[in-house]
Amino acid sequence: MGPDDSYFETIASLRRYLEELKESGVDGLPLLPEAGVPGPDSVAPSPLSGTGAADSLSMAEAAGSAAAVPLPGGETLGEIRSDLGECRRCALGAGRTTLVFGVGNPKARLLFVGEAPGREEDLRGEPFVGEAGQLLTRIIKAMGFAREEVYICNVLKCRPPGNRNPLPEEVEACSTFMLRQVRAIAPEAIVALGTFAAQALLGTKEPISKLRGVFHDYHGIPLMPTFHPAFLLRNPERKREVWEDMKQVMGRLGIATTPHKG
Ligand code: URA
Ligand code: URA
Repeated sequence: MGPDDSYFETIASLRRYLEELKESGVDGLPLLPEAGVPGPDSVAPSPLSGTGAADSLSMAEAAGSAAAVPLPGGETLGEIRSDLGECRRCALGAGRTTLVFGVGNPKARLLFVGEAPGREEDLRGEPFVGEAGQLLTRIIKAMGFAREEVYICNVLKCRPPGNRNPLPEEVEACSTFMLRQVRAIAPEAIVALGTFAAQALLGTKEPISKLRGVFHDYHGIPLMPTFHPAFLLRNPERKREVWEDMKQVMGRLGIATTPHKG
């Protein structure tokens, strides 16, 4: 099977099928890796020490003002959202329709972070609801989660006009809110979707092709950069790489990965 449109759906249905077999007592197929035994794709040796140089840069840069200002502990997402209010901390506030804070489980084990709301997200107030968002939902399901079980947000909460790239001052104005959301959710792993999110969170200029495939550190939480689903829509042959990255994330969370040929 080629990495076509149904790639992640096929993985999701294979996963469901195997889980049904397992539940009905079929444990004789040499298909599922044993629970707790990391497969060849999950990273065992110190994945957090991925890229030392980029990591220390990220602490200084991405944390930036966040590190300087002591953050309130024990905040809820609701409190953080209230603090954002009708945010005008950067120029994007004036042009948005809706501030897109994030959706999902406030105690999610897994957090997905994109770049910024697009047109549909700006109108609907929810991240990743357009075509790329539907692909993200398929990826999440292939990993064995419902969309509602994880948390999804963006580095920027407001849509840049015409989907232009966010400016440094816009990232700066929003970055403490991202960090506060991460602290409130306390996920076990973060997936950074695409160049912009990965570079902004890690405070690096490394291309996504170099960043992906290994865990990095975001304030003590393992962060896996991978390609953006919008990029996958244009380059479906890269879905395999995203699936390799997601299998590493699943390994981190102790989720058995579905087998694949080869
Ligand atoms: N792309 C993103 O990065 N985020 C969204 O919410 C939608 C598209
Ligand atoms: N360029 C991006 O912005 N994101 C990707 O995931 C790949 C290329």
